[in-house]
Amino acid sequence: MDSFSIATAAYIVASLLFILSLAGLSKHETASQGVLFGISGMAIALVATFIVVADVADTTSVVLLLIAVAIGAAIGLWRARVVEMTGMPELIALLHSFVGLAAVLVGWNGYLEHGYFELQSLEDIHNAEVFVGVFIGAVTFTGSIVAFLKLSARIKSTPLMLPGKNYINLGALALFVVLTIWFVISPALWLLVLVTIVALALGWHLVASIGGGDMPVVVSMLNSYSGWAAAASGFLLDNDALIVTGALVGSSGAYLSYIMCQAMNRSFISVIAGGFGIEAGPADDKDYGEHREITAEDTAELLKNASSVIITPGYGMAVAQAQYPVADLVRRLRERGVEVRFGIHPVAGRLPGHMNVLLAEAKVPYDIVLEMDEINDDFKDTSVVLVIGANDTVNPAATEDPSSPIAGMPVLTVWEASDVVIFKRSMATGYAGVQNPLFFRDNSQMLFGDAKERVEDILKAL
Ligand code: TAP
Repeated sequence: MDSFSIATAAYIVASLLFILSLAGLSKHETASQGVLFGISGMAIALVATFIVVADVADTTSVVLLLIAVAIGAAIGLWRARVVEMTGMPELIALLHSFVGLAAVLVGWNGYLEHGYFELQSLEDIHNAEVFVGVFIGAVTFTGSIVAFLKLSARIKSTPLMLPGKNYINLGALALFVVLTIWFVISPALWLLVLVTIVALALGWHLVASIGGGDMPVVVSMLNSYSGWAAAASGFLLDNDALIVTGALVGSSGAYLSYIMCQAMNRSFISVIAGGFGIEAGPADDKDYGEHREITAEDTAELLKNASSVIITPGYGMAVAQAQYPVADLVRRLRERGVEVRFGIHPVAGRLPGHMNVLLAEAKVPYDIVLEMDEINDDFKDTSVVLVIGANDTVNPAATEDPSSPIAGMPVLTVWEASDVVIFKRSMATGYAGVQNPLFFRDNSQMLFGDAKERVEDILKAL
């Protein structure tokens, strides 16, 4: 059997393992098995690629390939080991940008070094593949870089509102279609240069136009784009594993974006079209009144007298790593006969399931950790709500102020409880950059400071 047949068989096995991996990852009981399937699939695909390269190329190429894989693997292992849970979305965004860049380079290589085609129709298909691959790759590349910069707070997360932004996006898409036809008819280098520039600018503009509150959807949307970029490279390189894997990532990422849009009551089309149809709201110069402060000792008193408590954690709990004292607090209150539950918003934190992972780490029992839809009706019968480092996900403006940038997003209705204590370090806004009227309500009190330290103070006072 020649090396290509071995590789084709190996790629089919790897693709099947990737499908099993996705299926495993959909439930937490089977998630680690899913990860193992994924690792095995990737290992098989890598070995098969080595076999082909060793068969057709000279020793220098094999050595170069080994060096490239070793450098990539070392950087990947190092980043995965040191990354904080809160830094995960920005790392993912950066990795997506690499997939985009790789697709651009593969596309350019496909143009500069393509073989001889006997049939004109095959040549045309090849040229279309080059063009589409470069376009998707370049959009993914700059889009992911902007997402990385926004998620790591290196640039502001407020949406860029260029005049006529929707026409800019539509114009870029129309230009892409015209240039593709032109390139297929006459594959000139300047057309490829032009489409690369247009796509780089479009990717940048698409993601820059999306507000902070919609960033979770953007990350999964870029995940989807990176999948399609990989699939386009697969066509150019004649690599079945890349085509299948790219299509899996592309379609599952698109579906995840769709589910997230539904959970956040956002229009899918609007988000993937760079905030299509969303206009800038009026400047927020409202006077919300005064906020009240509370001490850790008084919070402990409030909790002692409570019959039911709901904790709604957010990004701040992750930053402070407060999940361990929070789990202790829950244990102590439950021992005193207080009913304690958690209310988890679908986009609390910075990645899907962020809060669930932290609470599981601290060994909080699963059965008291409830989803937003399961707990939202219970706030009105609750004595005390502890908002620990959450902000956007408990903002009443989303339901009460139609001009708010987060209007329509479902939120945890914490303000319906008798008392609300909000743990944060200052009066600063949350990720979406929107003021939160909850802080100024009559039944709200602010407990300022690092969430972990404040929870430990409450434990001492108890
Ligand atoms: P945010 O709205 O981001 O607010 C977090 C709050 O935690 C901030 O107000 C901050 O206030 C406080 N905080 C930070 N460090 C703290 C510390 N050490 N101790 C105490 N408080 C601290 O959080 P959220 O309610 O979880 O909402 C998540 C936001 O992120 C949403 O807008 C969502 O769309 C977006 N997002 C989510 C995801 C996913 S998939 N979950 C991905 C990307 C973006 P201070 O600075 O005053 O302390």
